[in-house]
Amino acid sequence: MDKTKRKAIIAGNWKMNKTPSEAKELLNAIVPAVKDADCEVIACVPYVDLSVALEATKGTNVKIGAENCHWAESGAFTGEISTGMLKEMGVEYVVIGHSERRQYFGETDETVNKRTKAALAAGLKPIVCVGELLWERECDITEEVISRQIKLDLFDVSAEDLKNTVIAYEPVWAIGTGKTATAEQAEEVCAFIRETLAKLYNKEVADAVTIQYGGSMNDGNAEELLSKTNVDGGLIGGASLVAEKFAAIVKAASK
Ligand code: PGA
Repeated sequence: MDKTKRKAIIAGNWKMNKTPSEAKELLNAIVPAVKDADCEVIACVPYVDLSVALEATKGTNVKIGAENCHWAESGAFTGEISTGMLKEMGVEYVVIGHSERRQYFGETDETVNKRTKAALAAGLKPIVCVGELLWERECDITEEVISRQIKLDLFDVSAEDLKNTVIAYEPVWAIGTGKTATAEQAEEVCAFIRETLAKLYNKEVADAVTIQYGGSMNDGNAEELLSKTNVDGGLIGGASLVAEKFAAIVKAASK
């Protein structure tokens, strides 16, 4: 992290976990445990939990995010949720292009780009996820994959809008597997993302973007990962569902 240049952000990605009553209980445990955080703290929760989550975090330093959004303002898209709906509720962040959406729900770089632009246009802050598959890493094309995703996912996103965009580097092979990238691997790719952004925009803009690492980040490895200059935070799955573990990661980012 380099807090002199950019905001450190720890975000929980709850995925398809926690009913509304369970969400309330978890947030009631998280809120007091992270109240002194010296970093941004976010909980990205299932749509049906947003209402109780916003209520449980009102007036606190915990921000609420959604886990996806549609790109159209409204219309015949059964089962989808628009950015306007999220914005009106008071949601601030939205995860876009998570590898599980790419893997199981047909998300492509084109739809990630559409969702990202729609989120920004509505005044939401997108957390755009990128990351290579294991076999792509084994074939030594990690940089090609990441560069392609960054270029396509952020196509037509202005430098001004990039200031409200967070990038999450999540190697797919490290998600939910207990296999964390080493701090060196995380730093290498996060630095590469920043270089790519500097080429697409400019160095000043690239230096200000928060780039998170995600993939089996937990209370035991967070400090080392976050000690790297270009790792500005974490997108946390499993460990964000346990208040003490999540709070310990927030603490590591607050140093
Ligand atoms: P994990 O998930 O921490 O459970 O690996 C991270 C993510 O998918 O954002």
